[in-house]
Amino acid sequence: MKVLQTIDEMHVACREQRRTGKRLGLVPTMGALHAGHLALVRAARASCDVVAVSIFVNPLQFGPREDFSRYPRDLETDRALLNQERVDLVFTPSAEEMYGRDRSTYVRVEGLSERLCGRSRPGHFRGVTTVVAKLFHIIEPDVAFFGQKDAAQAAIIRRMVRDLNFDIQIVVSPIVREPDGLALSSRNAYLTPQQRKQALVLYRALMRLQTLADRGERRAAELIRAGEELIREEPGAKLEYLEVVNPDTLEPLADVSGGALVAVAALFGNTRLIDNLLLTGSGHAQGPEINR
Ligand code: PAJ
Repeated sequence: MKVLQTIDEMHVACREQRRTGKRLGLVPTMGALHAGHLALVRAARASCDVVAVSIFVNPLQFGPREDFSRYPRDLETDRALLNQERVDLVFTPSAEEMYGRDRSTYVRVEGLSERLCGRSRPGHFRGVTTVVAKLFHIIEPDVAFFGQKDAAQAAIIRRMVRDLNFDIQIVVSPIVREPDGLALSSRNAYLTPQQRKQALVLYRALMRLQTLADRGERRAAELIRAGEELIREEPGAKLEYLEVVNPDTLEPLADVSGGALVAVAALFGNTRLIDNLLLTGSGHAQGPEINR
């Protein structure tokens, strides 16, 4: 496994691999790797000849009052985990290397970037699409792997790839959860044991909505009402949003008959957690979502 810090070295190493006709898969991450990240790495390993992982805590996607400085960083453990997964190339640039001193170009997917988390985190998705576009240019992968955990991010990246004609296949893998249902997240490390228990309310709310949809409830307003009610019963949770949207456009839906993304965000103390559920047209949960 090669660990590279500079854009030039990474670019050359990736070009070399692709020149020999190898299929290159990229898994972009911010490190503090957990089983959710490793599921993406395994999906890449299973379908690509060469697997590249980037680890970069991207300052551009954090707001001024967000957790950039305290975001968990543990490069040594991350490297060991990636080595075990037989990753070929790891890219760990510094912020200086990625952005220099006088950047003035951004990639922004309009409309979608202002929805869901984009509303409370202005500039967040612009930071994500800018860094992902840069990684795509540096690494030039054939395929890039993202998690359904960040459903809005996945939709926005798919739209960017389509609109800017990136010749890259986007694979979105299902959410990996703890045995009790909590979606894995690097930010779970911030939770106190009490908050960790309280956080389960998100999964419970999504399961409740799943059950209602399975029983035939099609009205988004009714699903939202039931979910909000359940979350309000947990005093430790401060609900930011619970929305039922079109999974591609992220626009609110009134009816879930044609399929829907149920997305939720809430604060537990200072820790902001997100989770979501995909309802298919029939109202049943969807499995792995690939190449949409
Ligand atoms: P990060 O939060 O490190 O996540 C990296 C990838 O892992 C994302 O595609 C995310 O959706 C996926 N992931 C995280 N938790 C998951 C889980 N429980 N199950 C499945 N997949 C999961 O997302 C980012 O970093 C950044 O925004 C990035 C795309 C790297 C750009 O900076």
